[in-house]
This record gives sequence, C-alpha cells and structure tokens, in this order.
Amino acid sequence: MSDTLVNEAIYQTDALIAEDIDQYLDTHQHKTMLRFITCGSVDDGKSTLIGRLLYDSKMIFEDQLEALQSDSKKVGTQGQEIDFALLVDGLAAEREQGITIDVAYRFFNTEKRKFIVADTPGHEQYTRNMVTGASTADLAVILIDARKGVLVQTRRHSYLAHLIGIKNIVLAVNKMDLVDYDQSVYDTILEDYTQFARSIGITAFTPIPISGFKGDNITGLSENMPWYKGPALIEHLENVEVDQLSDQAKPFRMAVQWVNRPNLDFRGFSGQIASGAVKLGDPVRVLPSGKTSTITRIVTLGGDLDEAVAGQSVTLCFADEVDCSRGDVIAASDNPPQAADQFEATVVWMADEEMLPGRPYWLKIGTQTVTATIQQPKYQVNVNTMEHLAAKTLDLNAIGVANLSTDRQVVFESYADNRTLGGFILIDKITNATVAAGMLHFSLRRAQNVHWQPTDVGRESHAAMKNQKPAVLWFTGLSGAGKSTIANIVEKKLARMNRHTFLLDGDNVRHGLNKDLGFTDADRVENIRRVGEMAKLMTDAGLIVITAFISPFRSERDMVRQMMQPGEFIEVHIDTSLADAEARDVKGLYKKAREGTLKNFTGIDSPYEAPQDPEIRIDTGAMSAEEAADFIVARLIP
Ligand code: ADX
Repeated sequence: MSDTLVNEAIYQTDALIAEDIDQYLDTHQHKTMLRFITCGSVDDGKSTLIGRLLYDSKMIFEDQLEALQSDSKKVGTQGQEIDFALLVDGLAAEREQGITIDVAYRFFNTEKRKFIVADTPGHEQYTRNMVTGASTADLAVILIDARKGVLVQTRRHSYLAHLIGIKNIVLAVNKMDLVDYDQSVYDTILEDYTQFARSIGITAFTPIPISGFKGDNITGLSENMPWYKGPALIEHLENVEVDQLSDQAKPFRMAVQWVNRPNLDFRGFSGQIASGAVKLGDPVRVLPSGKTSTITRIVTLGGDLDEAVAGQSVTLCFADEVDCSRGDVIAASDNPPQAADQFEATVVWMADEEMLPGRPYWLKIGTQTVTATIQQPKYQVNVNTMEHLAAKTLDLNAIGVANLSTDRQVVFESYADNRTLGGFILIDKITNATVAAGMLHFSLRRAQNVHWQPTDVGRESHAAMKNQKPAVLWFTGLSGAGKSTIANIVEKKLARMNRHTFLLDGDNVRHGLNKDLGFTDADRVENIRRVGEMAKLMTDAGLIVITAFISPFRSERDMVRQMMQPGEFIEVHIDTSLADAEARDVKGLYKKAREGTLKNFTGIDSPYEAPQDPEIRIDTGAMSAEEAADFIVARLIP
C-alpha cells in the first residue's frame, strides 16, 4: 500500500515538473546521486527511519497521507505524528508480507541530491539480500537502538558493509528519545562501536544520535541534544563525498560492453568508465591482448566530448584497427591492470544448494564471462563473531575465502581497488541462477609461474602409432544399471579389433586414486573432475577410454565434454529405471539404502540427473548387455 503511495508521490512530483520543466531541469540536472543502504533489524527502527526520510524530504504529500489514513480505517487519528506513523506501518507491513525479502529500492530527492535507498531485511538468513543491496551502495546507515547498544546484528551488518567495500559508514544511534537524549548513553555506544570497527578494519565512520520517530537530528539539529554538534543525518547524506569522485582519480579503465560498428566508417567501443579519465589523444592499451592505440573520438548520446570520467557511458574510437571485443578492458597504456587465471577471493554463497568445489560455474566480472571452478574454502567466516572456521563447502549465506581458477585469462583488479574489475558473480550453468557474489583479492603467484610445457611427441603421434582415433565412451547411469557389465564387453570387443583401450571403473578408481572420496555431492563432483582429467590425459596418449561412473550431475559431465576435443566425448546413457535397478540389487546396496543404513544413495536420497541429449542411449529393458555392446562399438567404429 505505502509503496504505491510513495510511487504516487513521485508521479505527483513528475506532474509538477512537467509544468515548469526548464526550472526543474535547472535545479535538478546537476544533482549528484547517493545510493545507500540501511541496516538493522526491524526493532532498530529501520522502517521508521526510512519513513522519516521520505516524509521529511516531502516525498509524501498531505493528500496522500489522508488517503493512507482513511485506507487504514483508523478513524479519529489526526496530526502529523499519526500520519507519519501510518506511513511507517505501511512500510513495516510490507516487510511482514515478505515483499522486502528481495531488496526494496526507494527513491527520494532533496534540494541538493537524489537518493536511492536499498532496504533489506536484517536477519542472518537474509545476508544475501543485504549483500545485493550493498553491492551498489556508496554509503551504509547502520542503525543501533540506543537502549540496546552494539548487538550481534550491528557487527554482522558492519562487517558485510565493509566487506562489500562501502567506505562511508554512518552509525545512527536511534531512539535517543527513549533514553532521555542522554549523552552518556551515546558516548558508551560510540566507544564500544569504535573498538569493534577498528578490529575489522573500519577506520572511519560518522556517528549521529537520532530519533527516527520524533525526527531529531534528521533534517536539522535537534534542540533535545544540544551536546551534539552535527551534522544532521540528511545534511550528511547530502554532503558526503561519493566513491565516484575518488574513482576518477584512479588510472583509466573501461570494460567493453559492445562494439559499435554501424557502418564501415565508424568503429567504436562502448561501455561505462569504471575508473579514471580519458582524453582525446590518450594512449590506451586493450587487455588481455596488450595491443595499444590512441583515442581519436569520445562519443556520447549528448555529442562528442574532449574528456570523460568514471561513471560516464561512452563510445571510444581508436586511431588504429586494433582487435577489441566485448569483455576486453581498455586501460591507460602506461598503467594497465593485470590478467590472470587463478585467484584468491571472498565468496558470499547465495543459493539454497551448497557450493560444490570443483564444479564449473559461469563467472561474470565486468563485461567478461568465463568458466570458473572454486576450490574447497580455506576458511569460512562466522559473520556474527568474525571467527575463521574450517569448512568443506559454503551453504546459503555463508561467507568464505577460497582459491578459484578460470578457463581463460581474466583482466582484473583487486576489489579493494576497483569494485567493477574486482567484483564478480557466479552463475549455475544449468539453472542460470546467480549462486554467489565474490570479491577478488589477488592473483595467485603460481598462475604466473606455472606454464604449459609443450612436448615434442604430441597427441597426434600417440594416436597415429596406435592407428586409431582417441575417444571417451562416457557411461552414465544409476548404480546397478549395468554400466560396468556393458563397458567390460565393449572393451573386450574393441580389444579383439586391435584397439588400444582403457577402462576406468567407479568401484576400482575409488579403491586407489579416489579412495579419499565418499558420496556427498561435493565428493562426487571431485570424483568426476579427477576421472575427467585422467581420461583427458589418456586420450592425449591416444587411447580409447571407457569410463563407468554413475556421474550423476549434468554439470560435471558437460565439464568433461568441454575438456575433450570436439567429437571425442561420447556420452552413453545406460538407461535403467530405478525400479529395475533396485529389483536387481546385485550388491545389496539398494536394500541398505532403503533401510537407512547407507546414506546419500543415488536414486534414493541423492539425485541422478539423466542426460538430455546423449550420443547413445541404451534402454536395458529392450537390449541384452551383448546387444548393447555391439550397438556402442558400431557407433564408435562404423
Ligand atoms: S559417482 O556418483 O561418484 O559417479 P561412482 O560411480 O564413482 O559414483 O561409484 C558408484 C559405486 O559406488 C556404486 O556402483 C556402488 O557400488 C558404490 N556406492 C557405495 N555407496 C554409494 C552411494 N551412496 N551412492 C551410490 N553408489 C554407492
């Protein structure tokens, strides 16, 4: 309800604007924008504060307040405080209805600035929402209830705001009216918070004693707290320097969003300048290729410019025909960022499904999209105490530090230096859901010191000596589907045809190379990753590799497919229904799984993702093992 009202208020402003557009533009077009986030639990008075900011900045008009009042059927209430309270009720009701489970963005204006405030719930289970809201914020308002002081939430929110790189932190000590505007209460809280802030690396913050409910120290200084010398909250929000200004002082970087080539005479590279400034005639370098050129034009919607700075969207033209495409980064030629493929990073996990070390995810950073795999975390951070804990994976809302590697060079800067070129998200390749946000710390030195060593006897010679084309017959299917049986017959038939083969079987490999792995999702991912790497080496050696693993996940089967040469990977789905596999139960494992003595059993309490488009599908109900083997061999060697 109140959201509609806020929007209404904005439309009304728009209507006013339409009447005197010139004057409006004059006052408003040079206004800067401040994006901020409010943190604190409902009890800290967050809704009240946001309501107060909207109210005091006149985004809510008298007639809307009346409508709000009659809507709520609270007859007989009058006066500003009540209207204000109703507005706040509306904001709080939204939260209860779960509307603000995602981040709610509210807009308001003052004479000096435009504001976007991200309102996120404060509970630990909404860490991902807070991280989302904070990721674009220039400032965080951390609310404290003066009666309660520094709480676990205060610490968590401060830690997250700092982690996300928010440099401006306001400590709003709220509900001062409920502690009789007592300076000593405020001073004690300030002392506590200062100590904590220092311990997590926050070097500066702006403390303000306020009452969101009464309006003290919101727009102007309150007579109730003569001991506080200012600024008032809105005054601070209006005047605080935003990151964009400091970004302009950094070296020039722009990630290329698209190549603009409407005709043969024009070729420009469009994007938003991430940091620094660029002038006509500036020498620039395109990364990762390292090619250089100079700037001949800076084109914008409003016409050509001589110079552009961080935050502006521009199209740059070069003096030379240098290769440059989406995902590349244009940078100052004498001070370019690095490129690397192995990093240490902080990862905030945002999906219900746990992180799977070794699984390939899409990693988006700047305008680059690459494939990345994350290693087991070095540690996880307890977001309430900031302790480092050992962890094998990261669950929903968990934050950890881990190494990751990418399939290509990524042009980057550490997140602390550049949020655009150091911040990334991870996307599940199958569901396309965003599963994590992260911040790159640095590239691993080993990335620079380990190089691919070319060998003189290559994979072609290995294969030629064996007089065959290498291939991987990748069997997948439920336990007891018949993978090993059929694979074994296939290998015998190929051997009779003088083919050089090698059979990797799940049960056998798990006795040696992979004996450290069990059957959790994470261990299965690692099992298949290792088998995939091994199969790849064997195809380099010229062999026809046959693998028989359940390999239950599409992601990892696709990962192995990508590792092989085109056409080399042949996915063979041994398609047996769960009922049939269970009825056969050759090893008695289904019985144990049903009894509950064997956990994480595929098909029972662990998933099996059947291939959608395998090269070969064997319906074991319609063919004998012998027939299936003939069919597979005929497909491999026509
Ligand atoms: S995979 O899922 O990681 O690909 P893999 O093929 O290596 O599994 O191993 C499967 C074999 O391990 C099964 O054929 C079965 O004999 C045995 N096994 C033991 N416990 C389990 C379990 N919980 N789930 C599936 N298979 C299991």
